[in-house]
Amino acid sequence: MIFSNANLVTFHGDSGYGIVSRGAVVAADGRIAWIGPASQLPARYNDLPNHDLEGRLVTPGLVDCHTHLIHAGNRAHEFEQRLQGSSYAEIASSGGGIQTTVAATREASEEELLVTALKRVDILMSEGVTTVEVKSGYGLDIDTELKMLRVARRIDQLRPIRVCTSFLGAHTPSPEYRDRADEYLERVCLPALEIAVVENLVDAVDGFCEAIAFTPGQVSSVFQRAQRLGLPIKLHADQMSDLGGARLAAQHGALSADHLEFASVAGVRAMAASGTVAVMLPGAFYTLRETQLPPIAEFRSHYVPMAVATDLNPGSSPLHSLLLAMNMACTLFRLTPEESLRGTTCHAAQALGLSDAGRLWVGYHADLAIWDAEHPAELSYRMGGTKLFARVFAGELTC
Ligand code: NIG
Ligand code: FE
Repeated sequence: MIFSNANLVTFHGDSGYGIVSRGAVVAADGRIAWIGPASQLPARYNDLPNHDLEGRLVTPGLVDCHTHLIHAGNRAHEFEQRLQGSSYAEIASSGGGIQTTVAATREASEEELLVTALKRVDILMSEGVTTVEVKSGYGLDIDTELKMLRVARRIDQLRPIRVCTSFLGAHTPSPEYRDRADEYLERVCLPALEIAVVENLVDAVDGFCEAIAFTPGQVSSVFQRAQRLGLPIKLHADQMSDLGGARLAAQHGALSADHLEFASVAGVRAMAASGTVAVMLPGAFYTLRETQLPPIAEFRSHYVPMAVATDLNPGSSPLHSLLLAMNMACTLFRLTPEESLRGTTCHAAQALGLSDAGRLWVGYHADLAIWDAEHPAELSYRMGGTKLFARVFAGELTC
């Protein structure tokens, strides 16, 4: 299959969009076999079916590298409570917040969770997403954590999308172990992780390091187990306070540290040294009306790659649009449109440990987003009303 007559945003190289004007992409066996100016297309490809993209813009398929899209229920009532003055942390401490979603998710059957998750996936796909990360963490008991991960594994059998799973048993202690976090980790979280690994349900291990969740020491014990199991790690770090989460993640060689509003300069330096991606989640910043900005200038000056994701979840970020997350990253965090698009393509792939996604180059997955747009900045600039023309997943046009 050839996709020709398009302006290609390749992100080949470390700076700039890497635009190839009037380009062509040859897809074979799900991968990019050739890419370059259409005028230089080798004759050996002349007989392949050719899609004329009529001058449209083509980017790598988008990658949403941080979501909690498998969950039951919703938390609109907490939205109302926050509007009446309660804070996210107060609601969590009084047994609401994550625990509300845990109760609903435990109740739901695997089929019910799948149906609602697929609806959310379809919305993301309609904006050009071809890879999505999905976390567990609303079970907090062994059966429900496994149930969530099994649902995640079914998504990419049913939809043309790549799914990466993260085990988030260390999201918060379960209601049964409310003031016994160590015991929760020992008796529930770590055994659930062991079983999930045996069942091949886990691609990475995540945690939440915060006063309302786990201490750095507790997160370290989860990371040590993950590393013994040969799994990469990620962390919800320094979202509401500086507990040294960025540095902790970096010390363990994490793929990414996410949120980071309160990350210190020492944390940023440690992330630079370990090659840890900083995942920006402007949907949570916006929803919680946070005022502390993540240290964007420090990430830039230390060459820490920045990714952008929805954090799609029912509490702090009911955001179903990766394009709107890109817009918010520009407007709220002052990322450039180029940074925000790198943030949802090559840097998001890096945050998931994928070395063959998020760029358009030979050998990479042939995952493309085709836009009715002239310039890549249009993707971050608009709010709503996607300009997606079509999507290509593993070389197949999927719309
Ligand atoms: O990424 N920070 C922790 N977890 C989620 C929120 C989960 C929830 O409130 O349900 C987040 O913001
Ligand atoms: Fe999250």
